[in-house]
Amino acid sequence: MTYKRRPVVVGNWKMNLSLTEATELARGLLERLASLGEGESSAEVGIAPSTPFLSAVINCVEGSDLGVSAQHMSHHRSGAFTGESAPSQLADIGCRYIILGHSERRQYYGETNESVSLAARAAHDVGLTPILCVGETLSQRDDGETLAVVLKQVEEAFKLLSAEEAAHTICAYEPVWAIGTGRTATPEQAQDVHYAIRQHLKELYSEQVADRVRLQYGGSVKPGNATGLMSQADIDGALVGGASLDVDSFQTIIHIASTDQ
Ligand code: 13P
Repeated sequence: MTYKRRPVVVGNWKMNLSLTEATELARGLLERLASLGEGESSAEVGIAPSTPFLSAVINCVEGSDLGVSAQHMSHHRSGAFTGESAPSQLADIGCRYIILGHSERRQYYGETNESVSLAARAAHDVGLTPILCVGETLSQRDDGETLAVVLKQVEEAFKLLSAEEAAHTICAYEPVWAIGTGRTATPEQAQDVHYAIRQHLKELYSEQVADRVRLQYGGSVKPGNATGLMSQADIDGALVGGASLDVDSFQTIIHIASTDQ
């Protein structure tokens, strides 16, 4: 029998919202989650505010099941790295997840497969669950390189993780051309890549590990397209950007992910 993976939906707020807006959104979401019936809220839910608001948002959600994620961190333990956050510092303030290798970080801030691999290692060392982001650009897709690019990113990101750690890691497939563009992968396109990622994890580790790793889809996920995506066999949730800034839209996506598995 295959393992039943719990869906996981995380809202990546990126560099948006004021302090008041961020705490209000967190409180609003908590109220919505509390009002959902059992089957409607079976998904694990997280939110990723901008770094300056992590503590404030963590205070708002304390004692609830809603987890908080940082959007990036250093892979170094401590030291002279101006502007960076250390893994242990994020764990100290109560973060549960860390998004690593997001395409915006790869494109603008020099994150590489190598730095993602080191940061994934560092995350597990302090008990943070990494959300490892992978995805191809439009030209890579057009050139037929999607699987080669994505599987290489997966291999590197997991490189320093044991089987047990890998099983407790989340991987988000976010085609770069679908992020913030309103253009989303079709459920079939997304499923094809998710399936390939899971097969690759099976080769790298084992079937048991591959069965446990949760694979999110990200890239213009909205209430209107979530049903098709979330019903795919290897899609275990979503990493949501724009639609997570609106409590109604995010709640709907959580509901769909909870019920469409
Ligand atoms: P959008 O949902 O705004 O396309 O962003 C996706 C994303 O980058 C989540 O990490």
